[in-house]
Amino acid sequence: MTKRVLLIVSGGIAAYKSLELVRLLRKRKIAVRAVLTDSAEKFVTPLSLGVLTEDHVYGDMFDLKEEREIGHIQLSRQADLVVVAPATANILAKMAGGIADNLATTLLLATDKPVLAVPAMNVRMWHHVATQRNLAQLRADGVHVMEPDDGEMACGEFGKGRLPEPEAIAAEIERLLALPVFDKLEPNGSLLGKHILITAGPTHEPIDPVRYIANRSSGKQGFAIAAAAARAGARVTLVAGPVHLPTPAGVDRIDVETAREMLAAVEAALPADAAIMVAAVADWRTADAADQKLKKDGSGKPAPLALVENPDILATLGRHVQRPALLIGFAAETQKIAEHAQAKLAKKGADWIIANDVSGDVMGGDANAVQIVTAAGIESWPVMPKGQVADKLIEKVAHALSARPD
Ligand code: CTP
Repeated sequence: MTKRVLLIVSGGIAAYKSLELVRLLRKRKIAVRAVLTDSAEKFVTPLSLGVLTEDHVYGDMFDLKEEREIGHIQLSRQADLVVVAPATANILAKMAGGIADNLATTLLLATDKPVLAVPAMNVRMWHHVATQRNLAQLRADGVHVMEPDDGEMACGEFGKGRLPEPEAIAAEIERLLALPVFDKLEPNGSLLGKHILITAGPTHEPIDPVRYIANRSSGKQGFAIAAAAARAGARVTLVAGPVHLPTPAGVDRIDVETAREMLAAVEAALPADAAIMVAAVADWRTADAADQKLKKDGSGKPAPLALVENPDILATLGRHVQRPALLIGFAAETQKIAEHAQAKLAKKGADWIIANDVSGDVMGGDANAVQIVTAAGIESWPVMPKGQVADKLIEKVAHALSARPD
């Protein structure tokens, strides 16, 4: 069935790019109905948008003829996805505050459909605390927000705030429309509007400029979980240690190297509805990483390598003021798996521990056998590919989050 987008164009210099966006969406067989705010009409005409959408273009809420033909509530609900592109600082502020003072903002308040906002504005407006506060509010409310591009602005300044290229916006719209949640809207199976924070991969702890402490984690399981969460509609932040894996579609990735960098990135990404700590964080780092390459002295004495404990990221989240409602850890065990996982649950203040037996070739391999340890008991899953473990886990997370009051 043809997917339908309600495109709200707000007034900014980037509004002219909405024409190209409509062309690209039509090429992808997506139907577009457009709404222009008054200020957007100064940058792009209803006539040109009407020609490209092959539909009536809506503008003023108080146009009686339009209201008779189609009520604004109906207009907001006939689409599969509502897209605000470009979204000015002004419309983002109104959306965050629930203000409905024209057709565009009334539709945004009346809709029961997912909303994608694509901000575009001057770099200082983008970094203003008010805009950032509004964006945080919108994200918490479940609005998908695309990151603007960096570069030269129409006003001559440089920085973040440029509208992403229409091709990138069209691809994001296509990705959102293809999410399974759009086909089978199960009340419990979706993570739309939820923020899921995931760590993956190993950490590298420098010894000197050329050596480091590492482990065999490949990051595959964590990346598979991030991909599954994005497919379920979540906003996903993936904090990744050094791995050679492509970023899954729709995932915001932050690359880090050490445990301390990983902790800082995780705390900066809060709040989150659920955190899934899959990374194999190095338990120790060198007390003092040397500035110069260490030289052997031929004396046969043990290497001068003093180690100190790294912060425990999972345990830090377990007692954090912004503790996610659902906190999940992994436990790599080689013996007495369930027993050790149970102890870890309490020690780290987690809700679930996913215990996996790493005595085989789990690390780096493609399959995993896991046991889910919770206060309620232990669930054992058979050996399955890491992708399947990820899907099953994300389904369980979606059910758990929807069962919780916000
Ligand atoms: N973890 C973490 N930060 C650390 C160490 C571990 O966030 N510094 C997280 C891992 O991401 C995983 C969980 O804690 O989700 C369990 O890690 P594991 O290494 O199995 O547990 P340890 O506490 O190191 O216990 P042990 O090595 O004694 O089994």
